[in-house]
Amino acid sequence: MNLVELNKIATAMVAPGKGILAADESGGTIKKRFDAIGVDSTENNRRDYRELLFRSAKAMSERISGVILFDETIRQKGADGTPLVRVIEQAGSIPGIKVDKGAKPLAFSPGETITEGLDGLRERLIEYRDLGARFCKWRAVIDIGPGIPSYNCISANAHALARYAALCQEQSLVPIVEPEVLMDGDHDIARCEEVTEFVLKTVFQELYYAKVQLEGMVLKPNMVVPGKKCAKQASDMEIAEKTLRVLKACVPASVPGIAFLSGGQSDVEATARLDVMNKIGGVPWNLTFSYGRALQAAPQKAWSGKTENREKAQTAFAHRAEMNGLATLGKWTRELEKKAA
Ligand code: 13P
Repeated sequence: MNLVELNKIATAMVAPGKGILAADESGGTIKKRFDAIGVDSTENNRRDYRELLFRSAKAMSERISGVILFDETIRQKGADGTPLVRVIEQAGSIPGIKVDKGAKPLAFSPGETITEGLDGLRERLIEYRDLGARFCKWRAVIDIGPGIPSYNCISANAHALARYAALCQEQSLVPIVEPEVLMDGDHDIARCEEVTEFVLKTVFQELYYAKVQLEGMVLKPNMVVPGKKCAKQASDMEIAEKTLRVLKACVPASVPGIAFLSGGQSDVEATARLDVMNKIGGVPWNLTFSYGRALQAAPQKAWSGKTENREKAQTAFAHRAEMNGLATLGKWTRELEKKAA
């Protein structure tokens, strides 16, 4: 492992003004997204859609530091035969790969999941590195509900994240460590704050035991938000303040950057809250985005599976990338949002 090299990649992934495009939807998830816009989830349609994002030249070179790919996409070629990994690199962005095999029911823990994919992971990492990946992603899922999360679920998932992260660094790949506390449910923001703090403390303890070098990783957490069905929603300021409090209590300063997931927030909400956190500032890490839905909802709708809508979709993607890029600098405003509309 070369920590200097890992740190260089991790630092580039969270560079000010830039963030990560999460385009690693599994087969089932991308089908759900395509169903919503009336598009068949065929291999060609998935390729055409993702290629149009990766060929949004200005957005990719100025605002997208890295792209998380799914196994199918890292092996695909664009319409002209160029591997999509090369398209991303030529745009000045870094290709990465989701390596977990999904969240599966956790035995004797109704309603909870454990993320699988450790068996054979070293060999898969070697192959992905050969295919051009420079970083990886593993998502652990913690749900909040009556009687959950359990300690068993949190510790099992944190342990798996640490084993994954150590294997990545062993193979000179930067791990994105993603413990996602879901915003489904009717819990209030205080409950999300409490659970997120417990989860992050457990994750960093496991990372330490596994000898993961924090300088060579990126943390991808949820923001501290109330459940979607909670009657009492919170202001962007409250969300930003609570999120920053928890991160300061849990995340060592040697982590180069924190790239939030959007997790079901609307695209503008995800931008506004990131922006408020960066306006507050005073933290040792770069705070950026690693959004899936919050970057892609608009371009997906604009595209709707039609070749003639390609440019419209690229414009919509470039706009969200630009707004989020500004939010990483604390320079986003609602007026900029309206101007584009
Ligand atoms: P969302 O931003 O849609 O939550 O997706 C990010 C991601 O990569 C989840 O693993």
